[in-house]
Amino acid sequence: MRHFTRLSDLGVSGVEAVLGAALAWKKQPPGAHLRDQLLGMVFFNPSLRTRASFEAAMLRGGGHAIVLEVGGGVWKLEDRAGAIMDNDKPEHIREAIPVLGRYVDALAVRTFASLADDDADAADPVINAFRELAGVPVVSMESAREHPCQGLADLLTIRERCGATRGLPVTLVWAPHIKPLPKAVPHSFLLTAAAAGCGVRVAHPPGFDLHGEVLEEARRYAAESGGSVTVTHDRNAALAGSRVVYAKNWGPATKSVPPAEAAAQVAAHKDWLVTGKTLAAAAQEAIFLHCLPVRRNVEVADAVLDGAHSRVLDQAENRFHVQRVLLHDLLNQKKEARHVHVA
Ligand code: CP
Repeated sequence: MRHFTRLSDLGVSGVEAVLGAALAWKKQPPGAHLRDQLLGMVFFNPSLRTRASFEAAMLRGGGHAIVLEVGGGVWKLEDRAGAIMDNDKPEHIREAIPVLGRYVDALAVRTFASLADDDADAADPVINAFRELAGVPVVSMESAREHPCQGLADLLTIRERCGATRGLPVTLVWAPHIKPLPKAVPHSFLLTAAAAGCGVRVAHPPGFDLHGEVLEEARRYAAESGGSVTVTHDRNAALAGSRVVYAKNWGPATKSVPPAEAAAQVAAHKDWLVTGKTLAAAAQEAIFLHCLPVRRNVEVADAVLDGAHSRVLDQAENRFHVQRVLLHDLLNQKKEARHVHVA
């Protein structure tokens, strides 16, 4: 059974296939390609775009979606292996996941990073438990390590605005925030842009390294696609000539900064606010991207978000278009003999 919870489920050729199909389906929608299909959507964390775009993709394709908010009308779920369940979580994911898998044709999951240990987050235990136990295809709506649907929507937006991406200079710039955020979005932009052949530059303050495994994976994709990956603390050098400016906050590397000091480290770099001056360091025709939600005038200045370079609304719309393709692929794959329980 195939799942889509990480970019490695697609690889370089799979990224091209999804982007190509999404571009085609934007021009000529596929009709009721998900008729009678049922998606179970499990949220351990909140969402606006992800929830609405997945539900819209299911409903417009003729299917249906069930939304479950863990801890909000749904039992709180324990996920620790071997846990003594004497706390406020009355059900373990080891029962909850296979039970849900018996009701639906696929499961979509959102589960955020703990931010306590980058290595533990990179191991992605909750979404990998869904892969192991669901009995149906699983699609990520963001996990501790990656937000792969966001990465595909980012690249679709770049393809639409900039054309071919092989060798295209794109810059991921760290942005300030009121608190440290997960690394899933920057990881997925890095991985997907590298797979699409971009010349990816990552600029962040010292101590805010992305996970080493993800950087290595991105470099492997770049070697295959003709792209490149460079990392620097010099934001202006990274932006010089760049056609894409992608702003995003993420927390410091837990190996560099203890979690208790992470908020203070983020607060120490308010000068990384993305303004018109930041954008002026990039190519004149550069587009500005952010996955949203964005804290105006904390991460990014109003003038950038409301200015002519901003493509953040197209980027959010493109979540729908790439997910429609992914859901079609996952839900129409040959169903294995499942839900059959003959004594
Ligand atoms: N970009 C994104 O995933 O948005 P939501 O958190 O609102 O779903």
